[in-house]
Amino acid sequence: MSVFTVDEVKKTFTNGEVQEQVLKGVNLSLKQGEITALVGASGSGKSTILTIAAGLQPASGGVIHFDGKNMTNMSQEEIRKIRATEFGFIFQSSHLVPFLTVEEQLVLMLDVSGTKMKKKEQKEEVEKILKLVGMDHRKDAYPASLSGGEKQRVAISRAIIHKPKMLFADEPTASLDSKRSKEVMMLIRDLTKTLHITTLMVTHEEEMLPYADHVVTMKDGLILEGA
Ligand SMILES: Nc1ncnc2c1ncn2[C@@H]1O[C@H](COP(=O)(O)OP(=O)(O)O)[C@@H](O)[C@H]1O
Ligand SMILES: [Mg+2]
Repeated sequence: MSVFTVDEVKKTFTNGEVQEQVLKGVNLSLKQGEITALVGASGSGKSTILTIAAGLQPASGGVIHFDGKNMTNMSQEEIRKIRATEFGFIFQSSHLVPFLTVEEQLVLMLDVSGTKMKKKEQKEEVEKILKLVGMDHRKDAYPASLSGGEKQRVAISRAIIHKPKMLFADEPTASLDSKRSKEVMMLIRDLTKTLHITTLMVTHEEEMLPYADHVVTMKDGLILEGA
């Protein structure tokens, strides 16, 4: 069964007098424990549909269902709550907070998502998740001392520490070399499978497609093929 569906989602941006329809009726159906990769030329609308699906900006039309709930009818507050508790995000660059250690970034995420835990439990949870992404030996490090691949591992652990149902990733390997990209993709795939997450990932790298369960191609604001 699909946990997440996008039906005929449209998006129009207005620039002064000019209106540009960037999404012309996008349909997606995402299943638990699967990675759907969204590919297509630059400007085809991939980031726009990803951010709308993730509740980061509103659609101009269409309907989105998550876990049987119609997200398009929800208040800003309800969407904010779902984003904080049920969604995880990974972007092209890791967006780590420079003055916090790896451990502190993750504790902060647990605080933000409203997970009720004592400090000691938080630290144990952080340790567990860092082990999962192979970064437990770097828990006291600051971002500046981490390599690109290590930073992205921390970003991934931060995206999943609150046990989200959905993971949204926009070109998560774009800033990495080929070897690190594959490691990061393998990690996202492992986590999607073992934690039964539903993952939607934008990528423009052919090499990443074998890690996806479905590949959906976008062109000029429409889906050409796939899920
Ligand atoms: N906030 C915005 N205001 C106006 N136009 C936008 C905005 N965001 C995206 N666009 C336009 O929408 C189109 C699709 O952008 P985007 O979804 O970022 O494409 P992709 O991620 O596939 O490269 C582009 O033409 C872009 O210029
Ligand atoms: Mg984009």
